[in-house]
Amino acid sequence: MSRIAYVNGRYRPTRDAEVNVEDRGYQFADGVYEVFEVRAGRLIDERRHLDRLQRSLGELRMRMPMSRAALDVVLREIAARNRIGYGSVYLQISRGVAPRDHAFPGSSVSPSVVITARRLNKTKNEALAATGIAVISVPDNRWGRVDIKTIGLLPNVLARQAAIEQGAHDAWFVDKAGNVTEAAAANAWIVTQSGKVVTRPADHAILRGITRTVLLDAIKAQGLAIEERAFTLEEAYAAREAFATSATQIVMPVVRIDGRSIGGGKPGPVAIALRAEFHSHAEPGAGSAGSVGTAA
Ligand code: PDD
Repeated sequence: MSRIAYVNGRYRPTRDAEVNVEDRGYQFADGVYEVFEVRAGRLIDERRHLDRLQRSLGELRMRMPMSRAALDVVLREIAARNRIGYGSVYLQISRGVAPRDHAFPGSSVSPSVVITARRLNKTKNEALAATGIAVISVPDNRWGRVDIKTIGLLPNVLARQAAIEQGAHDAWFVDKAGNVTEAAAANAWIVTQSGKVVTRPADHAILRGITRTVLLDAIKAQGLAIEERAFTLEEAYAAREAFATSATQIVMPVVRIDGRSIGGGKPGPVAIALRAEFHSHAEPGAGSAGSVGTAA
């Protein structure tokens, strides 16, 4: 089955889907994105993701390309057309197509919308979560507004690549004060030796992950002690547990940081329990939708 992408009002086989060479997303990374988890064919926490999308667009003075209701239909249609039971949907909105000039184009230029979907291997992901992942630390050299989910991800790309080349799975960014900010594409958490769950406050130095927001509810419901505060890399080395959260990994135990074992090198009970608990706090969306846009 060929994969289907949505590009500016049309559903196209992904291999034939094209964007204009003067798209500002392509030339300036002038755009924003969201990644939605799909589980049992449903988009998870769509409402919160669309809220964050609107916030990102607003911060960059970009407009919504279509109503939320229409976007909802297309997102679900893409999940359905690609027969995604377990996987993810990627949505990207750029400022549109215009002759290359750093300043914003005129108001007649419409934002570009691209939506794609992919299946993920549940068995493989569960096996990874059962063993946990290794991460390396890297200096956080990103710009000061990573709370906006922009498609400008070069530091994240280089950090992830460095991790892979060092035999790890991901990288954790560390700021100039020695505090962990977040992972290359996930939020970072530790459980201290006294059992407190710690994660950095959602300021401008991290992305306010949707998984993070929902997990805070799950942690409170479990009656665990939670501290939203910065934590150092040294604290992470000495933690009882560490884990990362994102829409594609949910709660992923971290068992090595810079080659040092965390929690005896095995996923800890808090991360395992929160992973099992997560979806009872998330919002499952409706199933597949009717048609919007033109078929390929
Ligand atoms: N990334 N921090 C960064 C830098 C991220 O890129 C992500 C998600 C998160 C977690 O956000 P959420 O819980 O809403 O997925 C935190 C997505 C999955 C990606 O880029 O593929």
